[in-house]
Amino acid sequence: MTSVGRQRAILVTGGAGFIGSHLVESLLARGDHVTVIDNLSTGRLSNLDAAHATERSSDGKPRLRVIVRTVSDALPTMDPREFDEIYHLAAAVGVRLVIEEPIRTIETNVHESSAILRFAAEGRVPLLLASTSEVYGKSAKTPFSEDDDVTYGPTTLSRWSYACSKAIDEYLALAYHAQHRLPVTIVRFFNTVGPRQVGRYGMVLPRFVKAALRGEPLEVHGDGSQSRCFCDVRDTVPALIRLVADGQHAGRVFNIGRDTPISIRSLAETVLKTLGREAPLRFVPYEEAFVAGFDDLLVRQPDLRRVRAAVGFSPSISLEQTIRDIAAEFRVRPEADAPDLARPGAASRATASTQALPGTSGGRL
Ligand SMILES: NC(=O)c1ccc[n+]([C@@H]2O[C@H](COP(=O)([O-])OP(=O)(O)OC[C@H]3O[C@@H](n4cnc5c(N)ncnc54)[C@H](O)[C@@H]3O)[C@@H](O)[C@H]2O)c1
Repeated sequence: MTSVGRQRAILVTGGAGFIGSHLVESLLARGDHVTVIDNLSTGRLSNLDAAHATERSSDGKPRLRVIVRTVSDALPTMDPREFDEIYHLAAAVGVRLVIEEPIRTIETNVHESSAILRFAAEGRVPLLLASTSEVYGKSAKTPFSEDDDVTYGPTTLSRWSYACSKAIDEYLALAYHAQHRLPVTIVRFFNTVGPRQVGRYGMVLPRFVKAALRGEPLEVHGDGSQSRCFCDVRDTVPALIRLVADGQHAGRVFNIGRDTPISIRSLAETVLKTLGREAPLRFVPYEEAFVAGFDDLLVRQPDLRRVRAAVGFSPSISLEQTIRDIAAEFRVRPEADAPDLARPGAASRATASTQALPGTSGGRL
């Protein structure tokens, strides 16, 4: 371990992503040195602009290092004993991406998690593993509690490959805890929203906000009666940090999110009302939006008792505030929906403390 005094060294995979970049900012604000590994497949270096602005320590040395590489390519060049904590967020994410690229989804999620767990176990470094409410599958039980049974559709529906790949990650993490005493904590994110989230992989709120700002139809899948609970990332991140810092939650699984459901139709209407815009809602059957036989859940709501008891989790940012902040970001950065890899010259925009390693910035997935 390298922490000197209160300064800790933290590794964040997927740190240029939506949740990861907010986490990196908070860790830097705590005074930590942060190393990010991200292959920019869905993340963006520009997500770390605010982090870069605050990273210098009093001696002028950078506290943020960004390695543009896939996790499993970067780890062999690193020593786990350099780190006090690891947050593993890198994954193939988003309904659209998961359906269109199932091989990439399964291989990324399982392979990269396996690599980071082995790495963490070598140094017995406390690790937080990002999982998902999708792990519950299509169980009809409400709300979802951490120890509930899970129910998936058939393997012929690739839609469930994301859930299963994340469930394998959980099994593997818990196995490392049991067999190697790795202090690993698992968080199952429910719908997490906020500035920097992009809509192009199927995330609903940025899609709605963008359409509302452009006066284009808001595309609602199905009849819009399905409900979800949305939690602002800026409420979520402090809880992640506390779950690891407490040092008491190894081997445990936590739901994290908000437990106030809203139907997707109401969400679309709330976006229009909050932004003072008018645009039609366009209802698109699931088969048209995704693939034939696409299963969606009518309700997805977390039981939050465990995370409340552990870290006093109490989200406070309203949905309307989140919508306004996402809209403000789109107005300032209209290109905010594009991943770095889709834009020419991404690697050359790397900052002084960013290592864009030759031949790997695109990443093998
Ligand atoms: N946002 C949500 O609502 C939500 C819900 C459930 C679970 N999660 C989980 O939270 C984590 C973060 O998700 P997010 O919403 O910030 O998505 P994101 O796509 O913004 O972040 C994922 C990051 O991982 C990076 N990445 C992907 N594969 C990689 C690889 N092989 N090597 C290195 N980097 C790689 C991407 O470039 C991206 O920056 C993921 O594990 C996801 O499964 C998020």
